[in-house]
Amino acid sequence: MTKRRLAESRLLHGGDYNPDQWLQYPDILKDDLRLMKLAKTTTFTLGVFAWSALEPTEGNFQFEWLDERMDAIHQMGGKVILATPSGARPAWMSEKYPEVLRTAENRQKLLHGGRHNHCFSSPIYREKVAIINRKLAERYGSHPALLMWHISNEYGGDCHCDLCQENFRTWLKSKYSTLDQLNHAWWGPFWSHTITNWSQIESPSSIGENMVHGLTLDWKRFVTDQTIDFYQQEIIPLREQTPNIPITTNFMADTHDLIPFQSLNYSEFAKHVDIVSWDCYPAWHNDWEETKDLAMKVGFINDLYRSLKQQPFLIMECTPSGVNWHDVNKTKRPGMHMLSSMQFIAHGSDSVLYFQWRKSRGSSEKFHGAVVDHDNSEQNRVFQDVKAVGEVLEKIKEVKDTNKHAKVAIIYDWESNWALNDAQGFAKATKQYPQTLQKHYSSFWKRDISVDVVTPSHELDKYDLVLAPMLYLMSEEIITKLEKYVQNGGNLVSSYISGLVNETDLAYLSGWPTKLQNIFGIDVKETDTLYPKDRNVLQYKGRHYEIKDYCTLFETKGASVLGTYGEDFYQGNPAVTVNDFGKGKAYFLGGRTEQAFLDDFYQELIENFNFPGNKAISHPLGVSVQLRESETHHYYFVMNFTEKKQHVELKESFYELVSERDINGEVELPIYGTLVLRKEK
Ligand code: GLA
Repeated sequence: MTKRRLAESRLLHGGDYNPDQWLQYPDILKDDLRLMKLAKTTTFTLGVFAWSALEPTEGNFQFEWLDERMDAIHQMGGKVILATPSGARPAWMSEKYPEVLRTAENRQKLLHGGRHNHCFSSPIYREKVAIINRKLAERYGSHPALLMWHISNEYGGDCHCDLCQENFRTWLKSKYSTLDQLNHAWWGPFWSHTITNWSQIESPSSIGENMVHGLTLDWKRFVTDQTIDFYQQEIIPLREQTPNIPITTNFMADTHDLIPFQSLNYSEFAKHVDIVSWDCYPAWHNDWEETKDLAMKVGFINDLYRSLKQQPFLIMECTPSGVNWHDVNKTKRPGMHMLSSMQFIAHGSDSVLYFQWRKSRGSSEKFHGAVVDHDNSEQNRVFQDVKAVGEVLEKIKEVKDTNKHAKVAIIYDWESNWALNDAQGFAKATKQYPQTLQKHYSSFWKRDISVDVVTPSHELDKYDLVLAPMLYLMSEEIITKLEKYVQNGGNLVSSYISGLVNETDLAYLSGWPTKLQNIFGIDVKETDTLYPKDRNVLQYKGRHYEIKDYCTLFETKGASVLGTYGEDFYQGNPAVTVNDFGKGKAYFLGGRTEQAFLDDFYQELIENFNFPGNKAISHPLGVSVQLRESETHHYYFVMNFTEKKQHVELKESFYELVSERDINGEVELPIYGTLVLRKEK
């Protein structure tokens, strides 16, 4: 794919701007420009959900308001990220062409309303989108303010209409060629589910088929492919008119635990965008976890989205205060906005963009945080916080385009997560695959070691250590890749609930796959699932750690035993092992341990390597140091994620970019305080 970069030397600061909601308020529109300058904001995303303002009736296009705003932002020295409006369609379209609306999984046709409820197959919807996208590209393709295209908004969900069913069948035909192959992959004879005609295939439904795991997995893959296909149609006129302008679409996370968005496989989607961007809404100051623990999760997900393309990404949306859709919408405490903004940059973002510039006056987002509140005042705390971030972004702009370098990778696989969540067995509430990865990541985050969070399709050879816990679904291809990695000198960690099914969710017949047996020098026999109150014990190098939820029962076939189970009928059996395989080592963690074990276990591994990360700054727990680097410099982001002042020790001399001074020795960090330190390489 051609590399398209942002034609902008500044870190982006600004966000979603909806002048289309304010066309009857000329004074407000005028004031926006004054306030944008005051807030040190320069980049605005225009046109998301603006279809009814752009085409109020069919074929009647109204671009004058957008012309005026694009020109005004340009004159102010700003840039525009221009959105295609397909995330929500005007009422006239749903009324005239009901096929554009989605059908739910229970086969109920949806009414017009909300947003994101269009059918990705509908030829009419695709045609209407193509028309308006072409007009936008023709009209604004050479506008000097145009920085990037923002396609639709937060693609997600699925449609189960007849058109989508037909496309699904076509997709399956091209994947399996014959019904015999499909029936084998889906284990058809089970409950008499053998398919004898392609027309019998229906997408999964709560009122129909929802027990055929191969079908569910293929449906999710199809939905990803279908969404990407829709996106690719959207961008045709944009690529034609503006071949050098980068294109993105905003990704999401599932917010409670900030785990990767579940419905689309972003590792596939990322191949089709020039720059990954995403919308990050952590519930800061919540009542169920400490700030530092949430900060770790924010680190994990940002490292995943950065690693999708292994290049800087963009925070397309975050809130300067609270949102309107968490269970409790708490506002950010003083200092948190700066801290969380710096954390985005520290993990590789080249932007801090907000949803939204100005709070809307009506409807569901009228109380969502925004830079400008209903009182239109620049004196507000939130406005001042945003301005302060703008000032800092100007001072640290040299970090733009710098990257992170990691020698540790954690594998996250969307497909494996889908399959595991569908699996009946284990325990409903405790599978928690992405949350488990966060715990492994945490051992490195606490020690300021840079980590890439990658998908199985990534190149692994450049990493000294690869963690692949709970990789439930492993195709032969993935197993062979892991085998080569260890054979060539890599260090691999696997765990309970790994390598149990293949790519169509069929169990392996050899027991644990033979190649895995060889790599790890063990043979997995059973997985014992514990009740929530059950506990076992890991006896490891004279220490004891708690185990809960899962214990793998396995035999060694050449591996050395590092730890054993302390209780139950498998007391004394191996629980943690290491195996020399080729030039590398393969570790197996049989039980789900408490965090203290992971921290100690990884500490011992870390000591064998020279991982990129912070070695020059010592600090207490809760302070995080993240590194970005250019060819000539290291940039250390020092961030206090605690509700106390903290002291850090700079063992070398640094230049601090925000206060513009040389510093070393002991430095006090205020509550939520940050430093951005530069050091020549
Ligand atoms: C999403 C959407 C925005 C807005 C915000 C509110 O990220 O993309 O349009 O609704 O949520 O937090």
